[in-house]
Amino acid sequence: MGDSMKVVLAGGTGFLGQALASFLTQHGYEICILTRGQTRLHNGLRYIHWDGRSLTGWENELEGAHAIINFSGRSVNCLYTKKNKREIITSRIDAVQAIDRAVMQLEQKPKVLVQAGSLAIFGNTTQLCEEVSPHGEGFSVRVCEMWEEAFFFKSIPGVRKVMLRIGFALGKEGGALEPLMKLVRYGAGGTIGSGKQYISWLHIEDLNRMFHHVMEHEEATGIYNATGTEPVTNKVFMSILRQAMGRGWQPSAPSPLVRMGAYLIMRADPELALSGRNCLPTRFLAEGFSFQYKKLETALSDVVKKG
Ligand SMILES: NC(=O)c1ccc[n+]([C@@H]2O[C@H](COP(=O)([O-])OP(=O)(O)OC[C@H]3O[C@@H](n4cnc5c(N)ncnc54)[C@H](OP(=O)(O)O)[C@@H]3O)[C@@H](O)[C@H]2O)c1
Repeated sequence: MGDSMKVVLAGGTGFLGQALASFLTQHGYEICILTRGQTRLHNGLRYIHWDGRSLTGWENELEGAHAIINFSGRSVNCLYTKKNKREIITSRIDAVQAIDRAVMQLEQKPKVLVQAGSLAIFGNTTQLCEEVSPHGEGFSVRVCEMWEEAFFFKSIPGVRKVMLRIGFALGKEGGALEPLMKLVRYGAGGTIGSGKQYISWLHIEDLNRMFHHVMEHEEATGIYNATGTEPVTNKVFMSILRQAMGRGWQPSAPSPLVRMGAYLIMRADPELALSGRNCLPTRFLAEGFSFQYKKLETALSDVVKKG
């Protein structure tokens, strides 16, 4: 029997999961998506219901799969109320643990478990961060630490575990770029806060290729920074974004204004825009991964429509 081409994407209904599903389909893989929504067939993709917590039958879908990739988690793009913070944590840890339990029971285990994580583990810093760099401080950092600890807590014989600490993924629909594009459209797309905070960005196509890389390289294991080679400051990012959208100078938003706007208008934690990190994909580079989008200008002009 040949190698299975089946890949299960848990939480694969979101921004990153949908992009990866179409990438992998084009590369001949058979995709199954775990969702809290209904079991269904849609656009050639199979969706299977789960609750992200308990084993209720979906685990049979994992039998004989080549890879399982987990994207599940409540969006961090919200106000950090007590309730939201709790959900941000439990939705991530529960899903990681449910998948682990399911995989341990399988007769034919997958070759690899890949977990979508975040560069937010480095906190708010302008220092260059490689995989081995120290963690930062604060709520988002703690979330990432608990997430990584839960993912690597148990090792499963014969199954590689890979965590991608994902940066600011630039794609056509959705993701973190959308609110920034909105600001530019409304004429408020100048520098945000001091503008010195870094954005460690990558094109979503390169991220898809990174998932593929760690799936198919038998020696790939552990933690990888999944980001581009040229992080830029917010000031530079906003200026290149305006250019890509065909807009000229726009007024900057000083930090107090950003804080107020974040709470009142965006209904999201202001630190999402005011803090940042300066990260490098050191392990991917060492393993010979080559980027299709190295320059922010090229990546943004691909993703953004002028107007
Ligand atoms: N986008 C980025 O640039 C980026 C950067 C760094 C890290 N990440 C991380 O990568 C993961 C995927 O990102 P994304 O942008 O694709 O996120 P997304 O669009 O919000 O998708 C995540 C999926 O998780 C599921 N989900 C939502 N709330 C849940 C809950 N309470 N319990 C269980 N599942 C829940 C949803 O699927 P169903 O409703 O179908 O169940 C949702 O489609 C997230 O953990 C995110 O933090 C993303």
